[in-house]
Amino acid sequence: MTMSVLESLWGTILSIPTAKPMYAFLILNVCIWFVILVSRKWASSTSRALRSDLEKPSGMRGKVTRTLGEWTPSDFKRPTAAPYSGWDVHSTKPIPYRPFRYGPNYYITLGLRSMKWDEWIELDNHYLKYHADKAHRIKERGSKCCHTAPEAMDAAIELLEELCAYLPERYPNMFTKTATGITNNVTNETFNITQRPLPEDPIATAARLVQDDLALMIERTDGEYYLLAGAILLAGFWRLSDKFGMRLSEIHTSGDVPQFKNKLEKGMMNFFRRLRPEEPVLRNNYFIQVDDNLAWSDSIGSEDAETVSWNTAEKDRAIENHFFRSERQSLRRLPRSGAVVFTIRTYFEPITGIVEEPYVPGRLADAIRSWGDDVGRYKGKEKYQNVLLEFLDEKHRVQVEGGLDVEKEDEARSYPL
Ligand SMILES: *[C@@H]1O[C@H](CO)[C@@H](O)[C@H](O)[C@H]1NC(C)=O
Ligand SMILES: *[C@@H]1O[C@H](CO)[C@@H](O)[C@H](O)[C@H]1NC(C)=O
Ligand SMILES: *[C@@H]1O[C@H](CO)[C@@H](O)[C@H](O)[C@H]1NC(C)=O
Repeated sequence: MTMSVLESLWGTILSIPTAKPMYAFLILNVCIWFVILVSRKWASSTSRALRSDLEKPSGMRGKVTRTLGEWTPSDFKRPTAAPYSGWDVHSTKPIPYRPFRYGPNYYITLGLRSMKWDEWIELDNHYLKYHADKAHRIKERGSKCCHTAPEAMDAAIELLEELCAYLPERYPNMFTKTATGITNNVTNETFNITQRPLPEDPIATAARLVQDDLALMIERTDGEYYLLAGAILLAGFWRLSDKFGMRLSEIHTSGDVPQFKNKLEKGMMNFFRRLRPEEPVLRNNYFIQVDDNLAWSDSIGSEDAETVSWNTAEKDRAIENHFFRSERQSLRRLPRSGAVVFTIRTYFEPITGIVEEPYVPGRLADAIRSWGDDVGRYKGKEKYQNVLLEFLDEKHRVQVEGGLDVEKEDEARSYPL
């Protein structure tokens, strides 16, 4: 695979290239996100605060004029996080994100929202399973799923230090800050992060602390952002080894619409360059998967296959094999290294479970129907739409018959829940 996910999926959004092996969905979403950012001039659906901020002339934004690839450490300090009251590793349930909506403007309304610092990392009673899965994958797959380039080492250590500071503040009944790092009082692990050399890749240690996958994008002197550290352990559809070292913005494959391409590239670069340490953002997305493997969706092929693709997936599997995978992504710039860190937290549930929630079957069916052909292709729609839509429609009908007031949906639920 010579082309990055970013490139190929970006191209997909813009120009629908010929059938290619399936690449990372994470990046698809990054692409969509940038489409939104770039189209903000024409669309009026992103949040006002973010919008006005992004539209300020670049000269007003401090670090923007810095030399490419060089970051002057910011004196920004993350505000101390408030303890999560009542949180318990055995009883706190995952947040039921349902980030899908009706209608043709699906992507336009998919919002970037600003993140409250307290809520940087979400943990819940699936922690121990995620922790064990991650440990297993780090052991089995090593640097194929978890790796830091030498030039990203300082950033990876900064990320680890940030987690060692944040987690004991936010989850004090689980984590204890120590003079040299952190203790996890549930798994009984203690990490001494002052040792040199570190006993393992710092991004692997960071990944053991949280349920999220982690990725660091680093700006080089060409002004481009490169994926130079990652712990991509439970991503389902994409492999770090396919993407490692690649730049975010190469969009040469999208040739068909050069004007838009140029604008998009610029918008994306500007977004990354302008992202300030004090302005973290969040977004959510979702996918359907037709097997129950959180770590790697075997339906699209073996994780060790040269290429993977929805083409190989079995069509029309029974509804019990349909799973709802949603991601909560946070994006922030680390103040010392200037690296941009993605956290990618996956929530994973059987479709047969979430359809019991009011409005969910009807709204999910409408959302899937609203995907464009390009998005549908990359989300594998053809493989499950018959079974899934029939099932969702029936569940929706039963809800409406049972008295569900479809007019009241907006009052009952608010995005992204
Ligand atoms: C967690 O473990 C550390 C190290 O064993 C200990 O010092 C600390 O008191 C424990 N904290 C809690 C909340 O149990
Ligand atoms: C951690 O240590 C405590 C106290 O020694 C023990 O009760 C608990 O079972 C241990 N947890 C794990 C996951 O090993
Ligand atoms: C942590 O590592 C440092 C550097 O190697 C060492 O001096 C220190 O004793 C270690 N601390 C603990 C608690 O293991």
